[in-house]
Amino acid sequence: MKYRGYAYIYTIGCQMNVYDSEKLAIILNSYGYETTDDMDKADIVVCNTCSIRHKAEEKAFSFLGRFARIKKNKPHLITVMAGCVAQQEGEKAFVRVPHLDIVLGTQAFSRFGKLIDAVKSGKQKVVDINDSSMIYEAMPATSCTDENKISKFVTIMQGCDNYCTYCVVPHVRGRERSRTETNIVEEINLLVKAGVKEITLLGQNVNSYGQKEGLISFPQLLAKVNDINGVHRIRFATSHPKDLSDDLIYAIRDLDKVCNHLHLPIQSGSNKILKKMNRGYTREKYIDRIFNLKKECPDIALSTDIIVGFPFESREDFNDTMNLLREIEFDSIFAFAYSDRSSAPAAKFSNQIDEGKKKERLNRLLELQEYYTEKKNKKQIGKILDVLVEGKSGKKRDGFDHALKNMEQMVGRTESNKIVHFPSKDVIIGDIIKIRIENAYPHSLWGHPLGAQNK
Ligand code: SAH
Ligand code: SF4
Ligand code: F3S
Repeated sequence: MKYRGYAYIYTIGCQMNVYDSEKLAIILNSYGYETTDDMDKADIVVCNTCSIRHKAEEKAFSFLGRFARIKKNKPHLITVMAGCVAQQEGEKAFVRVPHLDIVLGTQAFSRFGKLIDAVKSGKQKVVDINDSSMIYEAMPATSCTDENKISKFVTIMQGCDNYCTYCVVPHVRGRERSRTETNIVEEINLLVKAGVKEITLLGQNVNSYGQKEGLISFPQLLAKVNDINGVHRIRFATSHPKDLSDDLIYAIRDLDKVCNHLHLPIQSGSNKILKKMNRGYTREKYIDRIFNLKKECPDIALSTDIIVGFPFESREDFNDTMNLLREIEFDSIFAFAYSDRSSAPAAKFSNQIDEGKKKERLNRLLELQEYYTEKKNKKQIGKILDVLVEGKSGKKRDGFDHALKNMEQMVGRTESNKIVHFPSKDVIIGDIIKIRIENAYPHSLWGHPLGAQNK
């Protein structure tokens, strides 16, 4: 195919944005733009944005702001703000970025080509933040152009109806909509054909997949994906604790390709705060779900999301969260200081917490978790784990690299999503191999392939 220009895509935000950027790349390709990693070559620049926290939003504005100067010397350059900040800001985006050409909302991707045409024919400041009940069906299925990519995301639903009081997602991604099972399976088949081994199914609340539309349930969808030849591992995110069904627990237990790992965001350990967040469960209900899960899947790895410094969070509330970490012992956590979002109701709550206090609480929480993450990692020493090989690793450590003559240092992941470094002569990327774990650090495990000579 002959391209007529280059496209540079910069992605900020969650896994869904990474997936969306691939869709944007495919659309741009079919529109005559070859994607490039070299921003200087670009004829069109797309910033796929995130508005979950203030910092992410600022990153988008500062990235796009740089093009005011660049466009002076390169007037044909088209600049695009796509995704969640675009959806949130609409026309207002031009106030902060006057040289911007296109504001492309989260549901406007299928109309992207037409918007580019409009700009090319002289139209200025083009905006599309219209809703669309169709999400991805109208767009090309993601095929895998990236060689060596063995793990890919597949969005199965978009939007959210939960309206947690701190969160912009329902406001920028719209109401919850699920893709049909046929559409999802078709896309996974394409990925598998291109060599992908691991699929991560994405949605804001995967447990309620298909419920509104009367499609199959999420555990049933997992079973369908489990049946696809060539898929070796299945992950999914995110599960909402209020909707974690026994059927999902059984699916994790029984479906051989579904990884023994669950990401289940708790957000806070205090019932008072959970209520103000509108999360729809209590600390006790969350613990009870984890108890049931562990009964069926005793070795399951657990991760969670936590927000510290939500309005009204007292020292006692924060201690409830700290104690919850001690009680559950998560394998890992993602923790954030609460960030005010003007479209979310919590922005209007009184009793906002001072920034300094938020930071201090965040640091204390992360420090506590580091202990448990390392403890969980150390527990893996001596075990033989299945590792999906992802590629070469730049990391070196004493005791692991001195025998590396003629060997490569490789990196892969366990089912529990832990990173493993190991030396190897002849490992094919995409293989699942057995590694004996010999050392553990807060962020990674180190070992040797079974059968390989140790040191
Ligand atoms: N749908 C998922 C997560 C969506 S956003 C869920 O329901 O859990 C990812 C994480 O960002 C959230 O779990 C939350 O911990 C964090 N987050 C969302 N809004 C935030 C805000 N206003 N300030 C700080 N963190 C926030
Ligand atoms: Fe946001 Fe809550 Fe929906 Fe998650 S469940 S996307 S935190 S509103
Ligand atoms: Fe951010 Fe939008 Fe994802 S706000 S976290 S990119 S859904």
